[in-house]
Amino acid sequence: MQQPAFQQLLAGDMAILDGVIRSRLHSEVVLVRQVAEYIIHSGGKRLRPVVVLLAARALGYDGPHHHELAAVVEFIHTATLLHDDVVDESQLRRGQDTANARFGNATSVLVGDFLYSRAFQMMVTVQNMRVMEVLADATNTIAEGEVLQLMNCHDPDITEEAYMRVIRYKTARLFDAAGRLGAIVAGRDRAMEDALGAYGMHLGTAFQLIDDVLDYSGDKETTGKNVGDDLAEGKPTLPLLHVMRNGTPEQAGRVRQAIANGGTEDFAAILQAIRDTGGLEYTRQQAEREAQMAVDALAGLPHGAYRDALIELPAFAVHRNY
Ligand code: IPE
Ligand code: IPE
Ligand code: MG
Ligand code: MG
Repeated sequence: MQQPAFQQLLAGDMAILDGVIRSRLHSEVVLVRQVAEYIIHSGGKRLRPVVVLLAARALGYDGPHHHELAAVVEFIHTATLLHDDVVDESQLRRGQDTANARFGNATSVLVGDFLYSRAFQMMVTVQNMRVMEVLADATNTIAEGEVLQLMNCHDPDITEEAYMRVIRYKTARLFDAAGRLGAIVAGRDRAMEDALGAYGMHLGTAFQLIDDVLDYSGDKETTGKNVGDDLAEGKPTLPLLHVMRNGTPEQAGRVRQAIANGGTEDFAAILQAIRDTGGLEYTRQQAEREAQMAVDALAGLPHGAYRDALIELPAFAVHRNY
């Protein structure tokens, strides 16, 4: 797959970001350092920091804070992953054992807390109340999203609306915050902040819709995650909701059972039902719609290479295979 252009445009900023991440991971506690470095240095697309950096740059910002805030967003993201993999009982992330598989659940949860609280120490240094407000609200909403999702697990009767709420809360909200931070550090008004927030919200929604597609159609070598984790957990994601609405009674019944019981015994048949009913295409279409709304939200941004890169991101989110 072609490397998106933003990577080249941001090469210098990403190198600085890497330095910030490295230095802020420091802890006197060896196990904290070991686990935090294990997960942070295992790769990852760093898409949320990219949004912070591109948004700030698109608005002409050249001050000292955007790298710090980009690192904050990546730390919050990483903390949610440490917790999420415990809750989801996932074994593979970024092509290696999850931290919970390698170090155990207790260690993962506690180091996740370390990263969350380190992120808060870092954001305070920027000394901007609106920055803290946005990030405090976003982390709180992510936690609600993960709890809402837990409540929806094994429930085949949840609506598409309820599913969309979960993905906005658990995933899109951090992209929304990332966009807002760019506007805030650049000293822009609330209207510009809201525009970049809307951009992030739609981009993040598209991103999670495709993540849910890849959980059925992805390739483990490429995504670095196991396929079928969502079904194993009985997560009612959009491809499954689509089968229950559009499949034959037999297909719908099979999916209901799989959601209720979890496990992957029926994976092949479920995947076939998803394919037969066009469940992946339907989910991709919804992602395309969100991606278009993300692009539309950029209408008021100054034209230039950074805005172009922001425009490119939603398409990357939809067409990616990793
Ligand atoms: C994974 O996010 C969690 C979701 C919200 C789907 P990413 O796919 O951005 O994870 P990394 O950071 O690139 O590994
Ligand atoms: C992402 O949802 C949840 C977070 C915001 C942490 P998933 O559970 O689908 O993410 P993956 O598939 O484990 O990366
Ligand atoms: Mg997960
Ligand atoms: Mg997933």
